[in-house]
Amino acid sequence: MHPDLVSVLRCPVCGDALALTARTANCPQRHAFDLAKQGYLNLLPSASTGIDGDSAEMVEARDAFLAGGFYGPIREALVAASLRALEEHDAEVVAEDGAEDGAGGAEDGAGGAVQGAGGVEDGAGGAEDGAGGAEDGAGGAVHGAGGVEDGAGGAVRGAEAGGMGDAQHALENRGKHDAEGGAQDDPADDSGHQAGTTAAGLVVEVGAGTGYYLAGVVAARARLWGLGLDVSRYAARRAARVDPERIGAVVCDAWRELPVQDAAARVVLNVFAPRNATEMARILAPGGVLLVVTPNQAHLAELIAVLGLVKVDEEKERRLSESLSGSFERTGSESVEVAMRLDHAAVERLVAMTPSARHTAKDELAGRIAVLADPVEVTLSVTLSTWRTV
Ligand SMILES: C[S@@+](CC[C@H](N)C(=O)[O-])C[C@H]1O[C@@H](n2cnc3c(N)ncnc32)[C@H](O)[C@@H]1O
Ligand SMILES: [Zn+2]
Repeated sequence: MHPDLVSVLRCPVCGDALALTARTANCPQRHAFDLAKQGYLNLLPSASTGIDGDSAEMVEARDAFLAGGFYGPIREALVAASLRALEEHDAEVVAEDGAEDGAGGAEDGAGGAVQGAGGVEDGAGGAEDGAGGAEDGAGGAVHGAGGVEDGAGGAVRGAEAGGMGDAQHALENRGKHDAEGGAQDDPADDSGHQAGTTAAGLVVEVGAGTGYYLAGVVAARARLWGLGLDVSRYAARRAARVDPERIGAVVCDAWRELPVQDAAARVVLNVFAPRNATEMARILAPGGVLLVVTPNQAHLAELIAVLGLVKVDEEKERRLSESLSGSFERTGSESVEVAMRLDHAAVERLVAMTPSARHTAKDELAGRIAVLADPVEVTLSVTLSTWRTV
């Protein structure tokens, strides 16, 4: 994983900033996490061991199904919405800076100060709130923690709002300099390069699976970076391979504190995945956007009854609003609906990538697929909603 990406992460034990040395991510408190040989970082707190997420077979089936391009329209919609949000945000920052310049007060926010400031503030907050915090070994990856117990469930809160606000401001200034072509020679690069590089735009996908959507968004604009978070190490293995120069994969539990620094992301993606509103809001920078994809009633309807797939929850829409409403307000919503023509192999993969595969015996499923037309027309119908923090 690229060191710049590691530097936007935070230690799942104490909440301090992480930095990559050789193949180990360390925090100042000496908690250490080795990169897996497949390139992902396991930051799963010990309290979450036993939560496995998607199995190897499900991930493989998802990879193969998505490679068929059937969900391409979802990816295109996410790319367009991300670019729109980033452009709007750039325009807001330029307008704000213009106003500041006019008042004669604009400060450049040297990139070099960013990481240090974040780290120090994190340290203070982490030591206090995370007392009793270290844990014994996210899948055996933590060493040097000294036998304390799980801190991830507790309130290990990171940088103070004020501190990160400054950092964010500095990052955005760096981003603009880079955009003007000064990135390579900027002397601030030496000390502030880690977080500074990501300032151009970090996209985080929660429950990223194979990284299919994240890779699409990151590829759509120069100098975007991506972090794929997923509790499944099989998913993380794939996501780590999808674009290793620009996308990092981290194993973590979306229902606990995310191992990402406050205000680090400009876009958060959540596609058919667990939604922890407060954490997604915390990692979003001011002006950042959360993009959520949820299935509609018509989604895969032709297959649901015949194959006995898990139905879309009729209350999904209400539950989505409820789950996000304390932290976010909805700023937009669009439907993505197309007819897919799936041959039987694609149907098999589609079923195998969902939890339905666990509920129905293989032979029985094969028998039910055999009676379908080949190819069979199946509706893709999802809602892409856009949310901003309140
Ligand atoms: C339906 S898949 C969606 C994957 C990806 N967004 C896509 O659409 O291709 C849901 C993903 O959420 C992950 N997941 C489930 N529970 C999780 C948790 N508690 N924390 C993080 N990821 C989780 C699964 O491992 C799986 O990769
Ligand atoms: Zn630590």
